Amino acid sequence: MAKIEVGPWDYLPEFMGAMTDPGLLVVSLDGRGRPNPMTVGWGAIGVFWSKPVFIAPIRKSRYTHGCIKRTGDFTVNVLPRKLADAAMFCGTVSGRDHDKFAEANLNAAPSLKVKSPVIEECVLHYECRVVHTNAVAPKALIADIADAHYRDRDYHTYFFGEIVAVRAEKNLRRRL
Ligand SMILES: Cc1cc2nc3c(=O)[nH]c(=O)nc-3n(C[C@H](O)[C@H](O)[C@H](O)COP(=O)(O)O)c2cc1C
Repeated sequence: MAKIEVGPWDYLPEFMGAMTDPGLLVVSLDGRGRPNPMTVGWGAIGVFWSKPVFIAPIRKSRYTHGCIKRTGDFTVNVLPRKLADAAMFCGTVSGRDHDKFAEANLNAAPSLKVKSPVIEECVLHYECRVVHTNAVAPKALIADIADAHYRDRDYHTYFFGEIVAVRAEKNLRRRL
């Protein structure tokens, strides 16, 4: 399906809706140049340094963590409703021991401006260049969140990705 370039804020409700359910697919490249999709259910989109930015919270244990650090970019992809099951799959197995693209019948397609590819079957793609990396500071975290989310000390790193290109399918709203 043909995609057109759109602005970073054109599909915010659709983007936020997909983040909540079924989750967004963050794609990065591993050390061998293989693309790896990972599901994120958290994140923030907004303005920093006068740039449109998506912040991806990735725990240190994820294969994706090293991939983004090495590559310096990532893409964020919104699945169509009929492929929603891929979010659970990409959010429960690791690219360390799975080729998730092949096993989920997904295809990688070149991005316009970053090295990490997009997922061809997705209806909306954000291309992000890492401009800042930050980590949860345990001492600065309120106790109830620390207890609920970090008993194992597997803290999130926040990858601030400047959104450098966005593409959408024309009939996107009908497929969500
Ligand atoms: C719906 C859903 C949302 C998720 N959100 C996040 C998230 O925001 N951050 C994170 O680090 N892991 C999140 N995960 C877990 C990772 O997607 C999961 O551990 C994945 O297998 C990591 O893949 P990787 O090792 O190939 O990077 C989520 C999983 C699911 C199913």
